[in-house]
Amino acid sequence: LWLAVGIRRRQPGEPAVENGFIPYLGCALQFGANPFSSSAAARRNMIAGQYIHFLCDPFSYHSVIRQGRHLDWRKFHFATSVKVLDFHRYVSSSIEDFSMLILVSPSMVLKLSLLPSQVFGHDSFDPRHGHTTENLHQTFLKTLQGEALPSLIESMMGHLQDVMLKSDKLSPSKDHWDVDGIFAFCYKVMFESGYLTLFGKELGEDKIQAQQEAQKALVLNALENFKEFDKIFPALVQAYLSMCLRAPTKLAKTMHAENLSKRENVSDLISMRMILNDSLSTFNDVSKSRTHVALLWASQANTLPATFWSLFYLISRDNRLLEHKMLRVLIFLNRMTALTIIFLSESRCYEAAREEVLKILEDSGLTVDPSNPTLNLTRDQLDNMPVLDSIIKEAMRLSSASMNVRVAKEDFLLHLDNQEAYRIRKDDVIALYPPMLHFDPDIYEDPYEFKFDRFLDEKGQEKVNFSRNGRRLRYFNMPFGSGVTKCPGRFFAVYEIKQFLTLVLSYFDMELLDPATQVPPLDQSRAGLGILQPTYDVDFRYKLRSTTC
Ligand code: HEM
Repeated sequence: LWLAVGIRRRQPGEPAVENGFIPYLGCALQFGANPFSSSAAARRNMIAGQYIHFLCDPFSYHSVIRQGRHLDWRKFHFATSVKVLDFHRYVSSSIEDFSMLILVSPSMVLKLSLLPSQVFGHDSFDPRHGHTTENLHQTFLKTLQGEALPSLIESMMGHLQDVMLKSDKLSPSKDHWDVDGIFAFCYKVMFESGYLTLFGKELGEDKIQAQQEAQKALVLNALENFKEFDKIFPALVQAYLSMCLRAPTKLAKTMHAENLSKRENVSDLISMRMILNDSLSTFNDVSKSRTHVALLWASQANTLPATFWSLFYLISRDNRLLEHKMLRVLIFLNRMTALTIIFLSESRCYEAAREEVLKILEDSGLTVDPSNPTLNLTRDQLDNMPVLDSIIKEAMRLSSASMNVRVAKEDFLLHLDNQEAYRIRKDDVIALYPPMLHFDPDIYEDPYEFKFDRFLDEKGQEKVNFSRNGRRLRYFNMPFGSGVTKCPGRFFAVYEIKQFLTLVLSYFDMELLDPATQVPPLDQSRAGLGILQPTYDVDFRYKLRSTTC
């Protein structure tokens, strides 16, 4: 390893290297926590002979995102990642010139290599490895986008209302408040609804009581196993463990073909994957079921925290009121009076969202009736909700920390927007880290503040024009990744969160238990893996609205 570190010499056209070793995890977490905290402008780090180049200039993203012939979007090869575990080289220079940033981040590197085969424990999907000829990317596009969406949306809306109002999961009342953690609430409602939407229900379940009980137990089991698995997921990725652990193994068992075939209303995604597993792969039964666990994780792991942040900000006090000069003066004069005014004043975010929801329901002639919860919104109607859209985007801007990666297939020159060109060597990795965009004060004013209307233009429609130093940006919000590896479930993800928000706004009165609650810090152990969870849950209370509309 040391020899490997020693033999790579900086060549003309390569970014500057500063020597120094730090423990790999510390570096990853430090970067994940605050990409702007370092005084360094360009960092270069090396992992056992593998260099990762972080591209900082958003105007240069295009040269990496468009799928150039020099870059491979496929994930790291397994053999490469094995070497990553020992040490890394940490090298830095300055971020301000927006050139390259190269940084060791083994947790992220391992994620990329281990996600498919190692963490979930199934055989490789790369056709070059000879286990399958399935074009997974095509499967995702066909079953998660376009014509596949209306049935996913309809099914999700039904399940959401069943869980919220018909099952014994919540049993909300008009007469008293129920208290729960916001994350716990989102977990219960979104996990079950999303799980049933993708994996269907036990056959004939509606008819027989015993089967209904079995179904409940199954979902509850899946939820508990998923929770356990999700909790240890960052550790799995970092510590290089795998599916041999109890929770994921149990999850995989429920997804054996034999068990899945007993379910009805299974989504196209899972039905098609079952057929293709059988017809195009040589996977054994365990490997096949683990591919489904991987999909369950992909469909839930980011959606759950994204839903949490959306609901949290929706019902939180509008912090901008605090910034109002008048109120500041009032606070100065009489702190208690001012705080009372703030608490009594409605959150603009909440009001704008509710107004939008009521209008959509009214225009569609839909009545909110908790005793007959059958609201349904079409894809077009969901597309026509710019306020909810902006809330979700803003919530994800503040909490997303996914990594976009490409690998150099050969030595080449990477041309940046500022006319500079960097020499990249074969097998070097180029990474984009979206939080660098999301917290850039030159793109987003007060970047650490939640502004529900940040993604709305003057007409109240989706804002698509964001600039940096007076130049319009092509990439400014990237929670779903970019280019060919962009999340195939992104449309469904936003629809399901919108559906969730629409329903809670329609059926429930909600408020934070402690109106002065601060935003909980992000759990940085997941930096690089997607939407970050809060480090602790926040309590809120809810009850059924007393008036129907
Ligand atoms: C991959 C984000 C919800 C299915 C990804 C990636 C990101 C991401 C960042 C990796 C992209 C890359 O490697 O560059 C999110 C976020 C979500 C979400 C933020 C919710 C807020 C969903 C949902 C589904 C889904 C609901 C399915 C129903 C997938 C799949 C992949 C993926 C299958 C792997 C694609 C591949 O490797 O080709 N997602 N995702 N995601 N996502 Fe999502």
